[in-house]
Amino acid sequence: MNYQSEYSDAQKHPKAFWKKQAESIHWFRKPTKILSKGEHGIDRWFSDGELNTAFLALDYHVLNGRGEQVALIYESPVTHLERQYTYRQLTDEVALFAGVLKQHGVVKGDRVVIYMPMIPEAAIAMLACARLGAIHSVVFGGFAANELANRIDDAQPKLLITASCGVEVEKLIHYKPLVDAAIAQCVYPPEECIVYQRAISPCDMILGRDVDWLDAMSHAKPADCVSLAATDPLYVLYTSGTTGKPKGVVRDNGGHAVAMQYSMKSVYDMHAGDVFWAASDVGWVVGHSYIVYAPLIMGCTTILYEGKPVKTPDAASFWRICEKYRVNGLFAAPTAFRAIRKEDPECALATEFDLSALKTIFMAGERLDSSTYQWVSEHLQLPIVDHWWQTETGWAIAANHRGFEPIEVKAGSVARPSPGFVIDILDEEGNVVAANQAGNIAIRLPLPPGCLPTIWNGHERFVDGYLTAFPNYYLTGDGGFLDDDGYLFVQGRTDDIINVAGHRLSTGEMEDVVGTHAMVAECAVIGQASQLKGEEPLGLVIIKNGMTITPEALEEELVALVRQQIGAMACFRRAVLVTRLPKTRSGKILRKVLRSIANGEEYQIPATIDDPSCLADIEETLNSMGYQSLK
Ligand code: COA
Ligand code: AMP
Repeated sequence: MNYQSEYSDAQKHPKAFWKKQAESIHWFRKPTKILSKGEHGIDRWFSDGELNTAFLALDYHVLNGRGEQVALIYESPVTHLERQYTYRQLTDEVALFAGVLKQHGVVKGDRVVIYMPMIPEAAIAMLACARLGAIHSVVFGGFAANELANRIDDAQPKLLITASCGVEVEKLIHYKPLVDAAIAQCVYPPEECIVYQRAISPCDMILGRDVDWLDAMSHAKPADCVSLAATDPLYVLYTSGTTGKPKGVVRDNGGHAVAMQYSMKSVYDMHAGDVFWAASDVGWVVGHSYIVYAPLIMGCTTILYEGKPVKTPDAASFWRICEKYRVNGLFAAPTAFRAIRKEDPECALATEFDLSALKTIFMAGERLDSSTYQWVSEHLQLPIVDHWWQTETGWAIAANHRGFEPIEVKAGSVARPSPGFVIDILDEEGNVVAANQAGNIAIRLPLPPGCLPTIWNGHERFVDGYLTAFPNYYLTGDGGFLDDDGYLFVQGRTDDIINVAGHRLSTGEMEDVVGTHAMVAECAVIGQASQLKGEEPLGLVIIKNGMTITPEALEEELVALVRQQIGAMACFRRAVLVTRLPKTRSGKILRKVLRSIANGEEYQIPATIDDPSCLADIEETLNSMGYQSLK
């Protein structure tokens, strides 16, 4: 297949193009309205179609001769457990757990929060919700109780599903006390919690509220798939915005299923029977799309890995698993490869394994720096695909698509837009800029199937945050440029979102937390470049008049506060006491110049600055603490 003709087809005849793609999935009722306007005038795909995403991912394959193929492999170096489920076994488990949910009163449209480590039960819980038309909202296990509580209160779930614990390398993370603490501070607590007791560390149960997973399964009857409208929500996934309040990205059933199927073929060149491994977490969009839904809809074997690229037990984990399961496609964040490179600079461990099944390595979630790209491609002698997307889109906006005839590879570029995404680079006034000129990356409406139609409980936030800046466009929040050949170069966020080890975090949210410290008068949190994690946060803090504390003590307290309120994975490890922050005359903190100083880059003193002398003070403070750069 030729990329250019496929792309033009999608651009010129979007309805015909996506109608054709929709024909490759099974509908209970085929859609006749391919693209129409829904509530609030938002574009909706396949609105009169009916289907069930769990049916497509499971039952469909059992009914079509794939029942004995392995659907899901669970590999847990941290607990030394391995388990495999065929499509038939996974279908039965999911149907039975859907029966549990039904018995506990869950019906179509109810929300169910899932706060679980990387165990198969997390995927089973997601698929069981999908089976009933309940809307799951998975919260990444690394988030602290407070973050979980915020998400519970926004989603207002009927039920919460959790496990007794998770394992981080050698450290036990006790989930249940975090759940209890979150529920204690919720305005809209769930009625019940279903708890998967892990043998490695079971937890106490609260009588009348907590239900034991295995016990409930032993009494349950399997539940059938419910027929759902294509536009019914499949899930809500919270992601960081520029404010302290996370945004619940809504995903529908129909557009999502079509996009998952299409992207598996076009972006990843994966087909039924192939083994695909997305080394991410079900708490992130990569996990939703490419650990759970897309590989299963496509009839592939997916791998759910409870471990890290290094230390569990060593830097050969990726290669060991690729050999063991004959992985055909591997997807991970660049950070993972940087971590491997740090431990095994010559990539010698990879040579000890048979990687002959591996066709491509895919990377996303953060910028792929050229040195990591070179290192992986030289040592593995495989195509490396850097592709760019967001929680909001659910699949790649741009990639060097493996499902089409090869096109040129350009270092530093995420290559060409996926069919269905029409990208323009806009200046601040909304004018399309010339090739090679940087600006805001915007996507022309309508967005293709799979992208968000709204924000849960916040349609205005959706309109204000994404659709208002430039009429007829979706604003991605990333900046970059298109070159003369239409290759996209993504240069980074234009807002206050940072990417720490491929985890999307809001500096605004961290500022809110730091600001709750009794001594803090004002603060700015910015992203500082990190060789391993891409970016790490740095706090610059002014304390209230009359307060005294040593810089070391303040840093220690603030680091503990952010760990407790947001989670350790925010990697907030540096806070610096300053006396002034650079501001405009109207009082807005000049974060861009702070970022430049913190990254040791050249900067121009902004014309709007109120008091330029504070810049030198900040530079001196960072230097004296050895914080001028993380690199
Ligand atoms: N539950 C609880 N805590 C978690 C967690 C989870 N699911 N994930 C991370 N954390 C904690 C870690 O234990 C660590 O705590 P510590 O400060 O007490 O040591 C902290 O958060 C930072 O974790 P992490 O960023 O994972 O750092 P690390 O040094 O343990 O590992 C890497 C470094 C590069 C190996 C790791 O970040 C990694 O695997 N990155 C890839 C991330 C990825 O796949 N992103 C998905 C996007 S596609
Ligand atoms: P998330 O919603 O967590 O997937 O994070 C999305 C953000 O991660 C994007 O808006 C980008 O800023 C960044 N991102 C994702 N993939 C890439 C990539 N391949 N190159 C550069 N940045 C990326």
